[in-house]
Amino acid sequence: MTEKLTSRFRAVFLREPEFVARAPGRIEFIGNHTDYNGGSVLGAAIDRSVWVALARRQDGIRRFASETHPGIVELPVSAMDRVVGAQSWVNYPLGVLAAMRASGIATPGGFDYMVASNVPSGAGLSSSAAIELSSCLVFLAAAGTSVPRDQLVALGRKAENEFVGVPCGILDQGVSGYGRVDSLVYIDCRGPRFDTVPLPAGSNFWIFNTHSKHALIDGLYAARHQECMEAARVIGVASLVDATPAMLAAAETKLSRTAFKRARHVIDEIARVEQAVTALRAGDLAAVGKLLVASHRSSRTWFENSTPELDFLVDGLESEKGVYGARLTGGGFGGAVMALTTEAFGEPGVKRISDAYLAKFGSRVEVIHARTGDGAALVTRGR
Ligand code: GLA
Repeated sequence: MTEKLTSRFRAVFLREPEFVARAPGRIEFIGNHTDYNGGSVLGAAIDRSVWVALARRQDGIRRFASETHPGIVELPVSAMDRVVGAQSWVNYPLGVLAAMRASGIATPGGFDYMVASNVPSGAGLSSSAAIELSSCLVFLAAAGTSVPRDQLVALGRKAENEFVGVPCGILDQGVSGYGRVDSLVYIDCRGPRFDTVPLPAGSNFWIFNTHSKHALIDGLYAARHQECMEAARVIGVASLVDATPAMLAAAETKLSRTAFKRARHVIDEIARVEQAVTALRAGDLAAVGKLLVASHRSSRTWFENSTPELDFLVDGLESEKGVYGARLTGGGFGGAVMALTTEAFGEPGVKRISDAYLAKFGSRVEVIHARTGDGAALVTRGR
């Protein structure tokens, strides 16, 4: 991909890039909507990434190009307003620059910037965190500075929260930043504190991307966030991570039905993440698979962020040989399902699931056999 991006950069800007960085997409393994509630979550960086190339300019102009969006967005260094319309993708790198500046970190002046990606977007694989982290790495390098990894991750999240405007937790940026081949990233979101848990040998990931997306997805995510905060307030804790099942039961009559359901999911889900870590350390993938399915059912029933498409895939996968478990991955309301399987699951199973999906919904599901990957890194450090 570096070669492809570099030649595209040359073709568009008629010069060589000085810096190239890469950051991976991620799978949310288990821990659905636990991150912004202070809980724990497990994710995996995948072997698909967003790549950014950059060369500095001396004239105070910033030019942004993307392999997937036609045209060049040209802005003076002083322009830091959010962009609306077809070129709004530049809000990711602009948001990172704004976050760096607000944190007192040096930012580059003018530059030529190009992004390319093989992370499918809209699949719940966090191409947005990947563009934030890869952009941040080239900006830091171009400004002649660097930051510790936890700060890189925090800058990506700050861009997403404050500039892009999504009140996400630390999962996406944390996993993209701390990913490691053959491992899961464990995040205790209260710190946040990052760790890795080795994946037992023979673990395989399959992603089934429905390409379906609820029209109100951003609003629904924000609404869930609000509902969780309301539940915590009524229960009398700062975050739902501090609530126990007994505390929830005691507060049930004071909670709205909606707030109760959201809290029920989050409290149980945080417990499932911890159980999954124990089962992974014991190499018990069958137990892990059961937790994945329980997580999905809880998202469906209590958090109400599943869809008929995602439910259909999880149900179908559950009865396939070689599948330990499956669940929706990411924010929900559309997007993708991920399955943890043995080597025994392969093309015949994929075809059965895809054909059944096509027959039921009249559209094709995109299937990706994902491998784990390493976290964000600067690939080329300038001339
Ligand atoms: C999205 C958000 C994450 C997390 C998940 C749900 O991916 O970006 O921070 O909240 O949804 O677990």
